[in-house]
Amino acid sequence: MNNIQVQDQQGVRIICFNRPEKRNALNLDMYKRVTEYLIEGEADNGIRAFMFCGKNQCFTSGNDIADFLNNGDLGPTHPAVRFLYCLLELKKPVVAAVSGSAVGIGTTLLLHCDLVYADDSAVFQLPFVNLALVPEAGATLLLPKLIGYQKAAELLLLGESFSAETAKQLNMINDIVEASQLYEFALAKAVRLAQQPPQSLQATRQLMRPHKSRVQHQMHQELEQFSACLHGEEARTKLTKFIQKK
Ligand code: COA
Repeated sequence: MNNIQVQDQQGVRIICFNRPEKRNALNLDMYKRVTEYLIEGEADNGIRAFMFCGKNQCFTSGNDIADFLNNGDLGPTHPAVRFLYCLLELKKPVVAAVSGSAVGIGTTLLLHCDLVYADDSAVFQLPFVNLALVPEAGATLLLPKLIGYQKAAELLLLGESFSAETAKQLNMINDIVEASQLYEFALAKAVRLAQQPPQSLQATRQLMRPHKSRVQHQMHQELEQFSACLHGEEARTKLTKFIQKK
C-alpha cells in the first residue's frame, strides 16, 4: 500500500495521506516521502503550489503513536523533525483540504498552510498535554498569535477536540465547504495560486511571515521539551495505553 499518494495537476503538487487502517497516522516512512515530495516540488519550476489532503474521510490522526514509543530521539535527522523544518522553509504556497480527524500534527501543520478548507466532518484536536507531551511545529507560538492567548490555552492545555465551525470562528481555517466539493474547491484555490506570478506570490508570502527565525527557535525549544516528555514515564504509559486500547 502506498501511504502517500502524490499527483501533479495544473502546477499543483497534491500530497495525500493514505493509511486507512491507522486513520492516516504518519509513520517515519510517510514523513520521509512527504519531505522528499516537498523538496522536489520546491525545486521544480512546473510546481507552483502544494496541497495536503487525506483519503478515507480522514485528514490524519497525527504522528504514529507506536513510532513515538520506538523513536524517542527527536534530533534534526528524525523524519518528523525534517518534515517540520521543511514545511517552515517552503517558498511555495500550501493549501489544505481537511475532512474527518486532524489530530496533533494534523492540526499543527495547518498553521503553516496559506489556505485551509474543511468540511463539516472535520474534527481538530491538539491532545499533546493529554498525552503528557508538548505541542510541536511552532504551535505554542503560532496558535496564540493567530487566535489569542486564552483560546490557544483552551485548545492546547485542555486538548479537547473542536469542530470545523469552531475552527472557522477562530480563523484557523478559511472556510467550510460541502463535503462532496471539498477536494475540487481546495484544488481550484491551489490552481489559482499556481497561476499567480510566482515571484510576487512568493515574496508576498515571505513578507507575511517575518518571524520565521523566531518560529524556528520555538520549534527547537518545543522539540527539546517534547523529547524529554517522550522519555518520561507518564507519556510512555499513556501512549502504550492507546496502542493496547486500554
Ligand atoms: N497512531 C497509531 N495508530 C493510530 C493512530 C495514531 N495516531 N490513530 C489511530 N490509530 C489506529 C488505532 O490504534 C486503530 O488501530 P487497530 O485497528 O489496529 O486497533 C485504528 O487506527 C483505528 O483507530 P480508532 O481509534 O479505532 O478509530 P476511530 O475512528 O474510533 O478514532 C481517532 C479516530 C483519530 C479520533 C482516534 O484514532 C485517535 O484519537 N487517534 C489518536 C490520535 C492521537 O493522539 N495522535 C497523536 C497526537 S500527538
